[in-house]
Amino acid sequence: MRKYLIAGNWKMNTTADTAAKLATDIADGLVASPKSEGVEVALFPPFTNIPAVAPVCRATKLAMGAQNCSHEPYGAYTGEISVEMVEAIGCRYVLIGHSERRQIYRENNEWLLAKIKLAVASTVTPILCIGETLEQRQTNRTWQTLQDQLDLIFTAIPASQTSRIVIAYEPVWAIGTGVAATPEEAQEAHAFIRGHLEYRGVEQSLHQRSMILYGGSVNAENAQLLLQQADIDGALIGGASLKAESFLRVVYEASELTKS
Ligand code: PGA
Repeated sequence: MRKYLIAGNWKMNTTADTAAKLATDIADGLVASPKSEGVEVALFPPFTNIPAVAPVCRATKLAMGAQNCSHEPYGAYTGEISVEMVEAIGCRYVLIGHSERRQIYRENNEWLLAKIKLAVASTVTPILCIGETLEQRQTNRTWQTLQDQLDLIFTAIPASQTSRIVIAYEPVWAIGTGVAATPEEAQEAHAFIRGHLEYRGVEQSLHQRSMILYGGSVNAENAQLLLQQADIDGALIGGASLKAESFLRVVYEASELTKS
């Protein structure tokens, strides 16, 4: 049976109160419906709202994730949050290398690698976000970009430690634009990524199949066709994860597909 991971990246939205309400509405929707079977659902609230969401997640089968972590384990890094802190508060996942972090906060490769190393040494599963810009796509540099972003991590860390890493393919031109990759475009990229993971020895057998999520304008309308693709194992959802109803509809679509 296929297993899907549907992750809601709330970015810099919600307050503690609205975060607790959103998590509760999602949890209620999952409990009320057998339609969520076979799907792991993870919520990524802003750091300050994790304590408000944690009790809801603990009481249900929702997982929780952090949107970022520091490249250092501890110390004099004002404003930063370490992997250890993320782990201690009960996060199962941490996003690393989201394009907004790479572009707006100029996170460099050295930091990304350091963050992944800290995460794989903890119990928190890193979700490594990769993806090409529109310019890179238009100048036929998509595959080179994805390969470089993967190689940064997978040539530096032994394969034995990297099988837990989840990849999120998020074409930058599709994030928050309302223009998702077509199912064919997304599948092509996911197959390329999986092939490269195989080449790097990360993915050696079906039992070790890496999770590769698609992100970028996923919503209730386009989720089914995207999730049907052979190499798409779930979705990382921004805008459409801020409303319980639209987010739950994606979860239900994924659940339906686990049965087919
Ligand atoms: P979006 O964001 O669904 O709003 O496009 C996805 C993401 O940034 O993870």
